[in-house]
Amino acid sequence: MHRPLTPKETLYAMRIVSLRTAVLRIALACWASVCAAQTGGAGLPPARLTIDPGTIVSPVSPMLYGLMTEEINHSYDGGLYAELLQNRTFRGSWEGVEHWDLVRHGDSEAAMEVDRGSGPSQALPYSLKLSVSASAPGSQAGLTNSGYWGVALKPHTKYRGSFYAKADDASVGPVTARLISDKTGAVLAETAVALHGGDWSQYSFALTTGAIPLSTQNHMELTVAHPGTLRLQLVSLMQPTFHDRPNGNRPDLMERMAELHPTFLRLPGGNYLEGDTLRDWYNWKETIGPLVDRPGHQAPWSYWSTDGLGLLEFLEWCEDLKIEPVLAVYAGYSLRQQHVNPGKDLEPYVQSALDEVEYVTGDTSTKWGAERAKDGHPAPFPLHYIEIGNEDFFDRSGSYDARFAQFARALRKSYPQYKLIATTPVKESSADDQPDVLDDHYYKPWGDMLDFTHHYDDAPRTGPKIFIGEWATLSGTPTPNFGGALADAAWMTSMERNSDLIIMASYAPLLINVNGGQWGTNLIGYNGATSYGSPSYYAQALFAGHLGDGTPKATITGGGKRFYYSATVGSKDHVLHLKLVNASNEEQPLTIELQGAKGVHTAKAYTLHAATYEATNTINDPEFIHSTDSVIKVSGGSWKHAVPGLTIEVLDIPLD
Ligand code: AHR
Repeated sequence: MHRPLTPKETLYAMRIVSLRTAVLRIALACWASVCAAQTGGAGLPPARLTIDPGTIVSPVSPMLYGLMTEEINHSYDGGLYAELLQNRTFRGSWEGVEHWDLVRHGDSEAAMEVDRGSGPSQALPYSLKLSVSASAPGSQAGLTNSGYWGVALKPHTKYRGSFYAKADDASVGPVTARLISDKTGAVLAETAVALHGGDWSQYSFALTTGAIPLSTQNHMELTVAHPGTLRLQLVSLMQPTFHDRPNGNRPDLMERMAELHPTFLRLPGGNYLEGDTLRDWYNWKETIGPLVDRPGHQAPWSYWSTDGLGLLEFLEWCEDLKIEPVLAVYAGYSLRQQHVNPGKDLEPYVQSALDEVEYVTGDTSTKWGAERAKDGHPAPFPLHYIEIGNEDFFDRSGSYDARFAQFARALRKSYPQYKLIATTPVKESSADDQPDVLDDHYYKPWGDMLDFTHHYDDAPRTGPKIFIGEWATLSGTPTPNFGGALADAAWMTSMERNSDLIIMASYAPLLINVNGGQWGTNLIGYNGATSYGSPSYYAQALFAGHLGDGTPKATITGGGKRFYYSATVGSKDHVLHLKLVNASNEEQPLTIELQGAKGVHTAKAYTLHAATYEATNTINDPEFIHSTDSVIKVSGGSWKHAVPGLTIEVLDIPLD
């Protein structure tokens, strides 16, 4: 027990506390100045930002933020597309049939080989022949698939399996399908599929897990308990999909995309449209209809595309996210400097593009609209923009002017209502040959991206509009670090400011399976089981989620060299969306003058901050950097604010 202090002792104690506080304050101030000295800073010059929210000087495009993806980094196969088995069509290489192995329990005996002479369809005219010479109920033989870096399984989940099979004699069956833990050997789900003899037919089954841990370290087995011969093709195991779409997409990745508030999907994007050689172009007609009629094709980023996620699935993906497609049509140039000569040689490709637009937009009385209905989607899809090619500035033959013109004339004749996008400026020969929009791509290191943020400020407003169809700061692997997020945010302020000219933009690449990527910096990372958003992902979600429809008159004076802002006003909700990006590591003092606004407003603030440029999110630490919300008081007239170093702020300031 302590005795109570006398009044004198209390006074002394208070003095000691306040002395201690003063000493602490001085120490902190010294420490701060030492830090500032170490980082080379004497404080950033104050900035004065004057905004007149009542004077709108230019519009903000309603389609500014969108998505671009392609088959790179296992974006679709081994990513968004819900298939869990890898190499479901038994493509072979010198290493054998990749991702498939024989399984021989106990003393069972079996062999496997690719049978080029028998398959379930013209698109898949071959199969895997399993010859079982010894097998019994307790010691079965068959095949095992290791999935995409494991078969990711969740608890209490139903997986839909299917395969095409041809058994010389049905008595080789039934086929036992099992999901097995790699670590423990535990059977996590099991079912038997009875076979019938005769020709090729498709079999379906379901496997439902119980109270298992979420894990990627599993595999699937298909085995039989009797000797005999079994041919298999298109062996599939689908996880549950977004909106339960048959043959659809992985829910968590769809949700991550939805959180970016996109308005469009550029499809099929990037080099994936072109292929390495003319043989590998994105021939959309081979990506529609029953899966067994899709041969798949060699994608340019080193692996095979099943085309399970084909043209209709792209469009349904748009439908599920309530966004519209920006349709890219192959324009006769492939990456290894191969092109199709304009004129007669190009005609089949132009016809393919016309058919493709009809497949997307035609009603069911049209040939390709009817085909889409047959594929399960009678209603046409919305469309406003068609892009002709991808990065045709790489075509050293100089053939793009004529190729673009040939496509543009044909498309404009049949579909005058759509805007055409060129992938590089084209020489004018007639008004018809001029694009409505130009697609510019920018991949830049951190410093270069920051220095580039005024590129469009004085660009002419008389020519085509601009689509930034691919852009990214190259900082951080496999996903951007906080430095990347800061430069990306700075770049977004410039796109918003110039959105009378820049009507659409999409970051690229969007997706990466962290186990198998081909590109350094990508927005969203995942493995089979979980996904995460990079710091830049959160910055982009904030920017797109807080965007007005007009840019008000605004000026800034003073301020540090790496301080950026954008102001947009929502005409419906009367909110000023103010974005402040401090890419310096020192605090930015700021006076904000809101002209015409009176009284005190309560604004919502969304903040992203990190201690270093290198700080980042990872698959194992997915939320290390995330946005935090707070409320701040804002005075009409002028008010003082400070943006800490390495900080992105979005302020929603009500104007009423
Ligand atoms: O996004 C990666 C690649 O970059 C795209 O495929 C291509 O269009 C660009 O060169």
